[in-house]
Amino acid sequence: MTAERLQLQRAVVLSQEEVCRDTFLMWLSCPALVRGAAPGRFLMLRCSDGLDPLLPRPMSYHRFRDRDGERQFAILYDVRGRGTLWLSRRRPGDEVLAFGPLGRGLQVRPDARNLLLVAGGLGIAGLVALADEAVAQGRSVTLLAGARTAVRLLPPSFLPPEVEVVYATDDGSRGHHGPVTALLPEYLDWADQVFACGPAAMFAAMAETLRARASRRPVQVLMEERMGCGTGICYGCAVFPRRGGVRLVCKDGPRFDLRDLF
Ligand SMILES: Cc1cc2nc3c(=O)[nH]c(=O)nc-3n(C[C@H](O)[C@H](O)[C@H](O)COP(=O)(O)OP(=O)(O)OC[C@H]3O[C@@H](n4cnc5c(N)ncnc54)[C@H](O)[C@@H]3O)c2cc1C
Ligand code: FES
Repeated sequence: MTAERLQLQRAVVLSQEEVCRDTFLMWLSCPALVRGAAPGRFLMLRCSDGLDPLLPRPMSYHRFRDRDGERQFAILYDVRGRGTLWLSRRRPGDEVLAFGPLGRGLQVRPDARNLLLVAGGLGIAGLVALADEAVAQGRSVTLLAGARTAVRLLPPSFLPPEVEVVYATDDGSRGHHGPVTALLPEYLDWADQVFACGPAAMFAAMAETLRARASRRPVQVLMEERMGCGTGICYGCAVFPRRGGVRLVCKDGPRFDLRDLF
């Protein structure tokens, strides 16, 4: 990890938009924070003007764009507690301190033509940059997007238009009535590679589906754990996967092979 990635940088807020209830899309400008950034990687943001909350909050790189002669990036986040509430009150022109990029990003095999993305809730935040990149490279992308209810789904206009999106909601208010993982068997054979981000229960259900079908499809998942430092020092993000001993989500992840976890 280079020293620059651990230095707090000043990112300027370019825009802030509530895209669905309590979910915000924020575009930021900071050349140092996009250098080396890639789908699946994350950054740590200070979410206060003072010392409370003290610890920075991890956020995935959600999207990238080239505009006004620079590369800009977005985060997509839910307001969950004090840190994200503070973030949601930033306005264009405000500054946010952050460091990164951190962690291991998603890796697409050069020969993979068909990519299947599986998003549970706001797990979609970490997958859209991959969809953008894959579509630009001429690959086919299908996104299975699940949420508790329709108002929690990201509107299609916030996704690349070339992506086929299939919805599932727990209450049946949009798309398949039930968990998004129930859609997996239908698309598994089509996919050359699968990428997922969501709660651990979703990963467990996906692993079960793969086992039941004796599928050898490679599946990369992005794990989320509460983080203290984001840099491998505090061990606050330690997980104990099925294979390979203790792992730190910030340093060894957040990308893991599903078969190593479950
Ligand atoms: C690698 C990584 C990438 C992430 N990317 C995104 C993203 O793109 N968009 C996004 O909205 N969130 C993302 N998160 C989660 C995000 O970091 C937390 O939602 C945020 O830290 C909450 O801060 P807060 O101060 O608002 O809430 P807190 O006051 O810290 O907590 C509020 C509630 O949220 C729960 N919580 C906090 N952090 C987590 C977590 N990591 N996992 C599960 N529950 C948690 C707490 O237990 C508590 O109940 C990511 C987390 C990781 C580890
Ligand atoms: S967050 Fe400190 S070791 Fe991972």
